[in-house]
Amino acid sequence: MVTASETQSVNQEKLDAFLGKVVGDFGAALSSVLAYIGQKLGLYQALAAIGPLTPAELACHTGTVERYVREWLINQAASGYVVYDPADGRFSLAPEQAIALTDERSPFYVGGGFYVVKAMMRAEPRITDAFRHGGGILWDDHDPDLFVGTERFFRPGYAAHLVSKWIPALSGVEEKLAAGGLVADIGCGHGATTIFMAQAYPNSRFHGFDSHEPSIQHARRAADEAGVGDRVHFRVARASDFPGDGYNMIAFFDSLHDMGDPVGAMRHARQALATDGSVLIVEPMAGNTIEENFNPVGRAFSAASTLCSTANSLALGGPALGAVATEEALRETVLLGGFKHFRRATETPFNRVFEARR
Ligand SMILES: C[S@@+](CC[C@H](N)C(=O)[O-])C[C@H]1O[C@@H](n2cnc3c(N)ncnc32)[C@H](O)[C@@H]1O
Repeated sequence: MVTASETQSVNQEKLDAFLGKVVGDFGAALSSVLAYIGQKLGLYQALAAIGPLTPAELACHTGTVERYVREWLINQAASGYVVYDPADGRFSLAPEQAIALTDERSPFYVGGGFYVVKAMMRAEPRITDAFRHGGGILWDDHDPDLFVGTERFFRPGYAAHLVSKWIPALSGVEEKLAAGGLVADIGCGHGATTIFMAQAYPNSRFHGFDSHEPSIQHARRAADEAGVGDRVHFRVARASDFPGDGYNMIAFFDSLHDMGDPVGAMRHARQALATDGSVLIVEPMAGNTIEENFNPVGRAFSAASTLCSTANSLALGGPALGAVATEEALRETVLLGGFKHFRRATETPFNRVFEARR
């Protein structure tokens, strides 16, 4: 076999740059496991709350073993996730690091992403097998940290944009929900979006549906804790057969592209929607061409798509729209489901927000 290096001349500078990038990626991948540990054990929280600490002090405050904490801190400082002061041997979080790593109410919180990475890495043996033999892995069969991580990762964006920007960008929906409407949230997961909407529109009623029973149980507890349990109802149901009709809005938050039968989901949504209602479809940001995904966001979402979204749809014999589905592929799905109108209502750096109407 003739290798590429035998047929093409190698540019040493480009090779060095590429190897440097790969070493950086090794470090990032390994460090993401350490960031997960830091989230889980409250190491970042302690640094944020107590201030500059030596490894021994951080271990003492968190009930952990100093030797591991010292190694963890070296990695975290090398990663740019914590700050080290050689003058006193203490580690701390800069305000920006503290917001991103510890403040779950902030739109800039990113801690949930490490749960997603950890859970998706555990899917590798089954995904490798699916590359060889087809099929995939169902959402329900993933490491449970995927369900925790998905909520924690997406929740800050929903908190920042859903009520203030996304719903107002739809045709007349905000007014209907303020007056008192009926909403279905399909593939609601842990129910963060359903609960945010219920808090914002106290005159409306909300139904969250998901095929994953443990997520529905979690969502019910969360609604009770948020004090909206009387107006929000969560139930196990599929997108193709959820109950009810006359909904003013039917929402799909990061769920349509995962589905085994997204056209069937649209068809069912159409017949469950009020005549003048809107379907809100929130999808990950992605390009209209392959090369428009060659950026950090496209890199992350296409990886998650391979390990989770595409795999769930293929496990169900579906079309595998995937997390980087083009707008055209989504439009076709929606129109095949019987809708006449489809448009991009708004967007953020991480999400595309579409509206479908009858
Ligand atoms: C990536 S998660 C998003 C969860 C939630 N909407 C969020 O944004 O945090 C996709 C969700 O869709 C659900 N799901 C996938 N296919 C479904 C179907 N056919 N019917 C109902 N739920 C489905 C999964 O169980 C999962 O909870």
